[in-house]
Amino acid sequence: MDGMTADTLLAPSLPGLLRIGPHTVQPPVVLAPMAGITNAPFRTLCREFSGGKGLFVSEMITTRALVERNEKTMQLIHFDASETPRSIQLYGVDPVTVGKAVRMIVDEDLADHIDLNFGCPVPKVTRKGGGSALPYKRNLLRAILREAVGNAGDLPVTIKMRKGIDDDHLTYLDAGRIAVEEGVTAVALHGRTAAQHYGGTADWDAIARLKEHVPEIPVLGNGDIWCAEDALRMMRATGCDGVVVGRGCLGRPWLFGDLVAAFESPGSAPAAPDFGQVAAVMRRHAELLGLWLGDETRGVVDFRKHVPWYTKGFAVGSETRRALATASTLAELDAHLGGLDQTQPWPAHADGPRGRTAAGKRVVLPDGWLGDPYDCATPSSDAESDTSGG
Ligand SMILES: Cc1cc2nc3c(=O)[nH]c(=O)nc-3n(C[C@H](O)[C@H](O)[C@H](O)COP(=O)(O)O)c2cc1C
Repeated sequence: MDGMTADTLLAPSLPGLLRIGPHTVQPPVVLAPMAGITNAPFRTLCREFSGGKGLFVSEMITTRALVERNEKTMQLIHFDASETPRSIQLYGVDPVTVGKAVRMIVDEDLADHIDLNFGCPVPKVTRKGGGSALPYKRNLLRAILREAVGNAGDLPVTIKMRKGIDDDHLTYLDAGRIAVEEGVTAVALHGRTAAQHYGGTADWDAIARLKEHVPEIPVLGNGDIWCAEDALRMMRATGCDGVVVGRGCLGRPWLFGDLVAAFESPGSAPAAPDFGQVAAVMRRHAELLGLWLGDETRGVVDFRKHVPWYTKGFAVGSETRRALATASTLAELDAHLGGLDQTQPWPAHADGPRGRTAAGKRVVLPDGWLGDPYDCATPSSDAESDTSGG
């Protein structure tokens, strides 16, 4: 290969600095918002591995719950004192409520960056015209963005979306243009339609097309980054300005350390952890959750969902796996983790896809939704009732 190593080929071609308003994100790596996952403890873990580099977005917060000061929502918007910039993701379907939520964030100094979610494919949400069904109604999207940007003051507003409803109803190029016109700072594209849910592979060509379509603002690529090299490949293949990493870091928060290394000194990948190191991260994750929730047992119970991701591929045994996933105290976790062979190396087959991979079925939409993309649609407020994300 004319003396070029694989690393040279993978290295991004001098990526420009990613700027999200006043915030420089270097390397240009973003933790994807994931409902039920990217709370303050998980963000802390990821940031510890990245050395504080990158941008770490909160779980999705519904605007109605925020303006109503719902107790659980007020807990979700908590940032650790060390988090900077504080990045919050909002989801809302009503322009006025979105505007009020943004205004509240500004007035009460609750965050430094606001991302808006237009990617949720869950039937309960799309059935009401919310989530990834919403950008089909161009004027509604525009109204929401106008209210958000108009109330944001100096805070940058970004959006995250899918390609569209299905292959016959793509919305991402129009949405990107509307975003530019309304003063949105950056757009992130998950290269799947709502119809795909998490099935198949993400369409990175669509990310490249969006980048060409909206050269005025940074475009962030999202979908199927399972290891640090995938991030570099996406940057090269699409010309995007940064990457958004979701499922690849489930049970693998050290991926952010790998990403920083890959961007800063290609070829210098940190060694994959052995089981002892993974067990130490698990313990810390559970402990942080308990501190955040103010109750050890609640923390360990919340941690249960992470167990299959952390232990994927290791020789744990079904009984211990079950015991870990039903533990209620840190002492129980310690006992079960301590009984396992700590020297097990990282299993090669633990790389690759993890988390949700199911394909979708038909996208459920309100009656007549696909009629006029420019009518004055208003989804009912219960389009915000689901909190399972994107
Ligand atoms: C458990 C889970 C929760 C998610 N929650 C959200 C969310 O709250 N907001 C959002 O914009 N996307 C959400 N997503 C979508 C991810 O942010 C991301 O777009 C998607 O997983 C594709 O990226 P990946 O291939 O890197 O995982 C969620 C995904 C998962 C797996």
